[in-house]
Amino acid sequence: MNTLFEPSPDRRHTDSMKWQRYRDSDVIPLWVADMDFATPEVIRTAITARLDHPVLGYAHPWPSLNLAVVEGIARDHAWQIAPEWIVWLPGVIPGFNLACRLAGEPGAGILAFPPVYPPILAAPANHERRLIRSHLVETEGHWGIDWEHFASLDHHAIRLLMLCNPHNPVGRVWTREELLRLGRYADHHDWLICSDDIHCGLVLDAQSTYRPIAALDESLAQRTITLMAPSKTWNIPALSTAFAIIPNAQLRQQFILAGQGLISSPNLLGLVATEAAYRHGDPWRQALLGYLRENARLVTDNIASMPGLRSTPVEATYLAWIDCRELNQARPQRFFEHHGVGLSDGKDFGMEGYVRLNFACSRSLLSQALSRMQAALSAG
Ligand SMILES: Cc1ncc(COP(=O)(O)O)c(C=O)c1O
Repeated sequence: MNTLFEPSPDRRHTDSMKWQRYRDSDVIPLWVADMDFATPEVIRTAITARLDHPVLGYAHPWPSLNLAVVEGIARDHAWQIAPEWIVWLPGVIPGFNLACRLAGEPGAGILAFPPVYPPILAAPANHERRLIRSHLVETEGHWGIDWEHFASLDHHAIRLLMLCNPHNPVGRVWTREELLRLGRYADHHDWLICSDDIHCGLVLDAQSTYRPIAALDESLAQRTITLMAPSKTWNIPALSTAFAIIPNAQLRQQFILAGQGLISSPNLLGLVATEAAYRHGDPWRQALLGYLRENARLVTDNIASMPGLRSTPVEATYLAWIDCRELNQARPQRFFEHHGVGLSDGKDFGMEGYVRLNFACSRSLLSQALSRMQAALSAG
């Protein structure tokens, strides 16, 4: 038993959004993307140490914090960034919303790849831009870009390419070839790129290597806003701390200006946690990846034995994307909820007939949820 992750703390009567949804019913919550695991000790210790100073005033990100991020990204992703490229944010969602404001004029097209994290689909309309969809396709158990459809798009109308790498919910880590192919279109049509890389610390598949698109060549670096955060990897999403990496000084200035009056100053304890995570959090992250790999295998093996359900290997994230179209259930999310498992509805991600399962919980809870799904199918 891995005592870092088992037993996981009881969150039933806490402020947890994930657990509150089903507080009055016997439904196992495997929906919103936070983990049931305790935040790593190194992070809690750093926060506690900061509280020794009793004033929690507005904070200015400090040099050793920026350096921890620079060194962490160089170490983990082989990308050498400069500290001045970092723009601190209260979340990744505000980051891609600001990117939309920089995409041409109102009415400009923003390209996204459903199924994808719902706030990405919602962002263009928040800023009077137009969402252009290119649905991902699954071929023989592998999700990918539908290049034929992609080629048929009105490329001139697109001003912003919105990526999610690794991709929530299909769990793909985009390859260098895929990113370069997208990058060639971006260069040719002078697209801005915004890459939401919040899950980049969670690569499970040994054959997959995460590469930020901005790290592939100088031209792509100059047109890209990369969004990262410690929140998913180290399970601190409610500390509201994220950052954009923008190598192009002019673009960076425009991004900062677009956020004026909207973006609040960074959360002090989130900044403290971020430094601790990037500086000291790797051993915990490695242990987490080992635990999540086993959970991913448990999910894939179980789903493979359930008639009417299909899933694909999860290269990254702690989310499994499950095809329920052969179940003949109009609302698969409701069906499983009725049988005691709370999943996310694929419809919200722009693809009906699918559900998303968050497997970042203790193995015993996960096994219980999978048994309930199996029983649901037997009961019909
Ligand atoms: C792809 C993706 N982007 C952004 C977020 C949320 O980011 P934040 O809470 O920093 O705004 C999530 C959370 O699930 C996510 O999966």
